[in-house]
Amino acid sequence: MSERHHAYRSSRTALFSLLSLLAVAALMLLLAPAQSVLAQPAPAGGPQSSNIFDHPSEGPDTQAERQVKQPGNNAPVWRAVNSTQSHFTTLPANEGGVLIQPAGEGWRQLRNGPITQWGGWTLVAMLIIVIAFYLIRGTMRLSSAPTGRMIERFSVVERLAHWSTAITFVILAISGMLMLFGKHVVLPVFGYSAFAVLANISKSLHNFIGPVFSLSIIVTFILFVKDNFPQKGDMDWITRFGGLFSRNAHIPTGRFNAGEKIWFWGGLTLLGIIMTITGFILDFPNFQQTRGQMQLAWTWHAIAAVLFILGAMGHIYMGTLGMEGAFKAMRTGRVDEAWAREHHEYWYNDVKAGRVTAERGTPAGAADRPEGQQPA
Ligand code: HEM
Repeated sequence: MSERHHAYRSSRTALFSLLSLLAVAALMLLLAPAQSVLAQPAPAGGPQSSNIFDHPSEGPDTQAERQVKQPGNNAPVWRAVNSTQSHFTTLPANEGGVLIQPAGEGWRQLRNGPITQWGGWTLVAMLIIVIAFYLIRGTMRLSSAPTGRMIERFSVVERLAHWSTAITFVILAISGMLMLFGKHVVLPVFGYSAFAVLANISKSLHNFIGPVFSLSIIVTFILFVKDNFPQKGDMDWITRFGGLFSRNAHIPTGRFNAGEKIWFWGGLTLLGIIMTITGFILDFPNFQQTRGQMQLAWTWHAIAAVLFILGAMGHIYMGTLGMEGAFKAMRTGRVDEAWAREHHEYWYNDVKAGRVTAERGTPAGAADRPEGQQPA
């Protein structure tokens, strides 16, 4: 083999080796990002279509490259962490591969924006309406004199069910409002430490009382449902707004008027079901709920809670200041015959005619004496 041929061969080999070296280097350069991607176990969603570190506007931008360009800058990592893609993690949690859930920011803005603002001002508006109504209309008094004859309106069991519903509801409403609006109305007044204590107590009370409320509304539903179906007089009551805007209006109804029935089906039943389902999802987060499911349950819970409190404000007003004798009915279980005839005439007729059981176990005594009469 001539020297020239030998020189040619060795330069070709050198060139080849050089080229191979260059090729290997280029390959390695090409594979490097792929390597780092491949080094990560495949995310649950299958192989990545694009380089997760790539910045759409800045092109390929691996963490390794960013470390060279801007040491200490972890933007590519945080872009990956803040994406909806699930990445490998040893965290044994449902959706553990999604460290930051972008939709959570949307939920946070909904919570702190429309729900807090609209919810809060609607409740304030309802309070002003109830106070204005009381100042203008006043308590609805009986137009006929009490007879002194008392009849049973609520049995002991019915009153127990109602008051456990009422008391747990009021605790849940106050603690819930403190958790939602407390930052805006309590914190500026009482300061961080006091608010922290109040918020903590509210959260614990809310979590424990919630299931008791749900149980109470189920019992109240079972006890009262039979008298809450549509009856003669309901439409008349609705079209005349229950006589709320006219003096001495007499609208005959059954045991419960249409307003009470709307509260029973719309409040106790429908909103009660929504609050119970969403409340249990939030209260017991150990069924692999995702953050998205918890946020959805929270959103339903908060909106239904505001509607429930709005309805309860009307019910509580009518059940205390709004109507003479109403509160006594649910406290003692008995009403004067004049009250029954004036407010629930068809029910009164049924009791008098014996179509409805008159006595279901409310003990006679203090409740049977007309207002203000001393025991013999
Ligand atoms: C402090 C709060 C409350 C007060 C003062 C109150 C007061 C009253 C009063 C006086 C009655 C008797 C009305 C009548 O004789 O027709 C009544 C009935 C009733 N209340 Fe309440 N209540 C309160 C809270 C609640 C709550 C939170 C609920 C449900 C979530 C509720 C559900 C009912 C039901 C279902 C009835 C029977 C009427 C019907 O079934 O249509 N109450 N309430």
